[in-house]
Amino acid sequence: MDLSSDYLGFRLKHPVMLGASPLVQDLGKVKQAEDAGVSAIVMNSLFQEQIEHERRLEERRAEVNESFGEAQSYLPASSEYVAGPDAYLEQLRKVKEAVDVPVIGSLNGTTQAGWLDYARLIEQAGADALELNVYTVGSDPSEDCSTIEKRLVDMVAAVAGKTTLPIAVKLSPSYTGLSHLARQLSAAGAKGLVLFNRFYQPDIDLEKLDVSLKLELSSSSELLSRLRWTALLSGRVDVSLGVTGGVHTPDDALKAVMAGAHGVQVVSAVLKNGVGVVTRLVEGLDRWLAEHEYASLEQAQGSMSLWRSPRPEMYERGNYIRILQGYSRSWR
Ligand SMILES: Cc1cc2nc3c(=O)[nH]c(=O)nc-3n(C[C@H](O)[C@H](O)[C@H](O)COP(=O)(O)O)c2cc1C
Repeated sequence: MDLSSDYLGFRLKHPVMLGASPLVQDLGKVKQAEDAGVSAIVMNSLFQEQIEHERRLEERRAEVNESFGEAQSYLPASSEYVAGPDAYLEQLRKVKEAVDVPVIGSLNGTTQAGWLDYARLIEQAGADALELNVYTVGSDPSEDCSTIEKRLVDMVAAVAGKTTLPIAVKLSPSYTGLSHLARQLSAAGAKGLVLFNRFYQPDIDLEKLDVSLKLELSSSSELLSRLRWTALLSGRVDVSLGVTGGVHTPDDALKAVMAGAHGVQVVSAVLKNGVGVVTRLVEGLDRWLAEHEYASLEQAQGSMSLWRSPRPEMYERGNYIRILQGYSRSWR
């Protein structure tokens, strides 16, 4: 079965790739992921905060050097970040050397500033593409949605001006006009959209009277919002579509492809069950498509998108009315 898929200008052998995660910090795991069959590897992110922290440290080092060199030892050496920008680029070089599949670098931040220069450094370190993860929370009541969206579009245009790498924007689901934004991002130079960033929601600790944050791995139920939006965007925006969030089984991967995904990223499934899950996903895709007499994966790709599905209204408001009315009837 021909499972190949075009993603960000690459001809992938199949759509299943390793999403951004700490796994890439371990070259042994990276090699295992390639042996298990991943078609591409996304690096963990280099964060705006990490880069800006390093810049501040450098500025302070320079100031101290100028005034009293011996006081250098008083500078803060430790950082709350796992690795600084240089270590990130070094690891990217190592990952790139270790594998033959495309390696996608990742930058993560919210505003347009000097840290975006790292797009060029990521390119120079050997990345084949760049994922731009814009994790922004619209918490400022004085800022309207078009200002937030414009900042994102301007950021993408700025990054596109700094690198020749294809850029995929990893988006949050919380935009009012996501379809319109998707087109603007494409016009600004994005070659792909990755749906969706997972927001880790803060909780309230009643005993400590504090706010806490805990990382929970995903389950298949999180796939549904990705399916809907992939189906809504498929064929309507001239970009590759990647799905991240809730892909655990071959059926999950198939649904993502049918909604219109060109790339299917897995992280939680690999963290829970090891890289062997990738082999099972790819074998499952192959088996299902063969059993259902598809000639290729591309034939299935987008077949359940808004435009091609037998009931497009289900992706929009129809879905909502039916589900509520259906539930009320069964309950009476
Ligand atoms: C431990 C961990 C670390 C992650 N680190 C990053 C990161 O550095 N950058 C990023 O864009 N996403 C990161 N993610 C998010 C994943 O790439 C992915 O989008 C998310 O986990 C949803 O996919 P899943 O359901 O397959 O886990 C991380 C996820 C986990 C669980």
